[in-house]
Amino acid sequence: MLAGCGGAASPPTDPIAAPEGVRPVAPDTYAKPLGAAVASGPIRDDDAYRRAFASTFTSMTPENAMKWNALQPSRGDFTWGEAESLVDFARSLGMRVRGHPLVWDQQLPGWVAELPRDEVEEAMTTHVTEVMRRFRGRVAQWDVVNEPFEDDGSWTPNVFERALGPRYVEVALRAARRADPGAKLFVNEIAAERDGPKRRALLRLAARLQREGLLDGLGFQNHTTADDFPNGAQLAKLLDRVARLDLDVELTEVDVVLRRGTRAQQAEAWGAAARACAKQPRCTGFTAWGVTDRHSWLGADQEPLLFDAEGRAKRSLPVVQEALRR
Ligand code: XIL
Repeated sequence: MLAGCGGAASPPTDPIAAPEGVRPVAPDTYAKPLGAAVASGPIRDDDAYRRAFASTFTSMTPENAMKWNALQPSRGDFTWGEAESLVDFARSLGMRVRGHPLVWDQQLPGWVAELPRDEVEEAMTTHVTEVMRRFRGRVAQWDVVNEPFEDDGSWTPNVFERALGPRYVEVALRAARRADPGAKLFVNEIAAERDGPKRRALLRLAARLQREGLLDGLGFQNHTTADDFPNGAQLAKLLDRVARLDLDVELTEVDVVLRRGTRAQQAEAWGAAARACAKQPRCTGFTAWGVTDRHSWLGADQEPLLFDAEGRAKRSLPVVQEALRR
């Protein structure tokens, strides 16, 4: 790492080199982008991770490098280096980039949480505007708002909601539209795949935002387990509900914890999700939340990803590839 990152002129971090002898996947191999979240450490230090990523995926979401604490750790001080490196790397391999997330109450630097209420709106719109302008034309779509609801369907009482009320979502989306009119704007949610109060609240919000021309799509994270996952019919219905709102939809953070399930069930969970996306014309992408088990946010012992700790493809991988292949 370069010392003294920070300030408007933060120096770029070292570029990430494409692994030798790996042929990137032609973008039209799959009917929809097949993505992975990429972490800054292993993409540089772990050759197996880098090879698995470069040889398999056609879309990249920075796992942490575009979070608020990474991009604006102190007020007005934007540190672009790591996000830039990841975006350049993905684009040099011909991949699409999903930006994630602009407004979220986690991985938020302390200064945001400590702002006086009447300064939150300005700070939020400035963040959205600066980040989206920076990556305009290079990042195809953004999770403008992440995880706005609680399980009971109420608004998560984060710093933005407390200061602005639920309208913070519209305010963020309006700033996003202005900053990059060409980018697709998403709201992304966790554990809203199955019917329940959270999903109902999300769909109600989405319908309204779509009518106002502020929203282009909904992201469903689909973090699941091998012994309990939304099945094909449930997911097909969900994606269809979103499509009927005239919105795009993506599965944005898929992983399948092994837990008490079997590897066959695990592959079934991946397959159900990938096929549901493949069959729905408005499903515009399918993203795994990580590359190899070793670096999964859930811990390597959970074995939730498409590649094992050593970077060997697991049986779930061809299932997903077949489902999405053109
Ligand atoms: C996770 C990352 O994978 C971890 O490395 C980090 O420590 C915490 O965040 N929902 C999201 C993602 O929208 O941004 C989260 O990613 C996982 C849950």
